[in-house]
Amino acid sequence: MDSSNTAPAGQEHHPDCMRAQALAALAATAWPDKLARVRAIADDAMLDCQRVFAPMDGVPGRPPLPELVAPAQVRQRSMATQEGRAALLHALAHIEFNAVNLALDIMWRFAGMPEAFYRDWLRVAREEALHFDLLRRRLDALGYAYGDFPAHNGLWDMAERTCGDLLARLALVPRTLEARGLDASPMIRNKLAGAGDTESAAIVDIILRDEIGHVAIGNHWYKQQCVAAGKEPVACYAELAKRYDAPRLRGPFNLEARRAAGFDDAELAALQAG
Ligand SMILES: [Fe+2]
Ligand SMILES: [Fe+2]
Repeated sequence: MDSSNTAPAGQEHHPDCMRAQALAALAATAWPDKLARVRAIADDAMLDCQRVFAPMDGVPGRPPLPELVAPAQVRQRSMATQEGRAALLHALAHIEFNAVNLALDIMWRFAGMPEAFYRDWLRVAREEALHFDLLRRRLDALGYAYGDFPAHNGLWDMAERTCGDLLARLALVPRTLEARGLDASPMIRNKLAGAGDTESAAIVDIILRDEIGHVAIGNHWYKQQCVAAGKEPVACYAELAKRYDAPRLRGPFNLEARRAAGFDDAELAALQAG
């Protein structure tokens, strides 16, 4: 039966809805298919903000490789060798692959937000797809491919823990894990540049520039949701970090990038107080 026959007037379900397209891209397993689906979602795609999707098996779609292992099993390698630099780029590519999935996931999973919310995360999904593509092209140039090294899944684990709580998702994915990327980027960039790999270092520069925007989007919607729920952002963050067992963030912090991403003095003081 066509489900649109049973939907209330004005609530018919369109397969072309931006959120339905995001879910289809999330379910895609092969990276070329996932990237093509993300690119195909139009800015002006029809948007049904209220639709509640039935939970779906097989999300997130991902290829059989890389093999997923515990974080402690991912070895740090020397930047002096091409293989070592490829392993680092591969770890970054895996983060970006997860980041594509995370941006798509927030779009279909959380109904009832304003149109601007879904459009913001579409922009993030596109930029994550670009980051993944830049890294896998660079890997290719070095003689490697996505899937050649084992990887860990810390980013997606936090997505699962916060799948029923938008405020927690915003607090702990963009504002914690992606923000941690802002802190880590200068060191990674310098390691690559120090090893003479200026092309890889230039990709990390692009990623850092874009990630400031992603954390800013996370901050914007986190604060909007705090206001809607009558919560104070700093205290609410501390409570969510504890409840969902968020990783403890350690310095050095990239305060300039964090400020540019919208963290205010009270939040940065709380961060530094640990
Ligand atoms: Fe990214
Ligand atoms: Fe990001």
